[in-house]
Amino acid sequence: MGFEGRTMRAAVMYGVNQPLVIEEIEIAEPGPGEVMVKLAASSVCHSDLHALDGGWPPQVPIVLGHEGAGTIEAVGPGVTRHAVGDPVALAWTPGCERCRFCLVGRPNLCERLAETVHANVMYDGTTRMRKDGQQIYTFMGTASFGEYTVVPETGAVAIPHGVPTDVAAVVGCAVTTGFGAATKTVRIAAGNTAVVIGLGGVGLSAVLGCAAQAAGLVVAVDVHDDKLAMAKRAGATHVINARETDPVTAIAELTKGRGADFAFEAIGLKATIEQAIAMLGSRGTAVLVGMPPEGVKFEADPTLVALMELSIVGSNYGSANPPIDFPRILGLAQSGQLDLASLITARISLDSINDAFEAMKRGEGIRTVIGFA
Ligand SMILES: NC(=O)c1ccc[n+]([C@@H]2O[C@H](COP(=O)([O-])OP(=O)(O)OC[C@H]3O[C@@H](n4cnc5c(N)ncnc54)[C@H](O)[C@@H]3O)[C@@H](O)[C@H]2O)c1
Ligand SMILES: [Zn+2]
Ligand SMILES: [Zn+2]
Repeated sequence: MGFEGRTMRAAVMYGVNQPLVIEEIEIAEPGPGEVMVKLAASSVCHSDLHALDGGWPPQVPIVLGHEGAGTIEAVGPGVTRHAVGDPVALAWTPGCERCRFCLVGRPNLCERLAETVHANVMYDGTTRMRKDGQQIYTFMGTASFGEYTVVPETGAVAIPHGVPTDVAAVVGCAVTTGFGAATKTVRIAAGNTAVVIGLGGVGLSAVLGCAAQAAGLVVAVDVHDDKLAMAKRAGATHVINARETDPVTAIAELTKGRGADFAFEAIGLKATIEQAIAMLGSRGTAVLVGMPPEGVKFEADPTLVALMELSIVGSNYGSANPPIDFPRILGLAQSGQLDLASLITARISLDSINDAFEAMKRGEGIRTVIGFA
């Protein structure tokens, strides 16, 4: 793959806990089966912070960012599903469309993601970004913290015209992950008790999903009061500040000792994963959405799991099939049934991206969206 391409501004990570460097890099034109996307908006997810703070140390240099939306700028040879100018959101599960998971509509489990997205490269094992002759890795196959990106054609998902680009960006990860965990990974019955622990972009989207499924009690847990207030607006019936009240005790009281039917963990901490399991009632399900730093393990009591018939399930990208679920979720937002705009609590330019990571470390705000001029 040659590098006949163009230059663009991007935020490049050179090392763990080093500020991203905003600079000009080169991006190649899309190869066969690939598309170039001109980013309009890209938001910051905690998974980017996991890369930056060394929880999931990536190869460097790398362009982070995986919640992005924009328009198709160029299509590579053989691409027929996209045309220049079409609005798209990026998906970090660019399925191969041939493996047994892709074929049943589960590209989030595509058998080729390990060698591509999880290795921060394209299908040919290289990337389309470089500087001074050195390859730059592309985080989660999306690398949305730049003016342009090149992704496999299945990594760009057509979205309805007229959707605000910042809302489309947050659907690219947080909303699809959280809302999908509560609406696709598990089946919440009307009247069930559902708890969400951790109210960032992912957790608040899970609250929206629990409310959409008509859960009876929707209990939202965080350590910041502003997040609890947002959860109430998103449909939580009760909120718990975990700094003041033990969530497991509080859920036992709220449910008169029965425990929760569903507990979504949306942080990725051993302690809160164990709380999610401990607050379940018989036949309850803990849904693990948050992703801890590499190496973290949780403990559960197998006897209680058996006696109470508990389930502990994982949720990857909200069990989403992006070409189906992005337009579905954005349609709910367009018709006013889902308030996604309120998840966006700050808008910045690419030059201020390091401030967005600092704010996330302090637990401030929900989603910061970078707007590209
Ligand atoms: N499963 C998936 O497919 C998937 C997809 C995207 C993100 N994630 C993961 O989901 C997690 C959340 O992402 P995010 O972007 O919403 O993060 P975030 O940093 O925006 O939100 C985390 C929230 O947890 C709260 N919190 C921290 N410690 C707490 C505690 N002890 N008790 C209660 N609340 C506490 C914080 O105040 C914050 O509101 C991350 O681990 C991320 O990597 C998973
Ligand atoms: Zn994410
Ligand atoms: Zn596949």
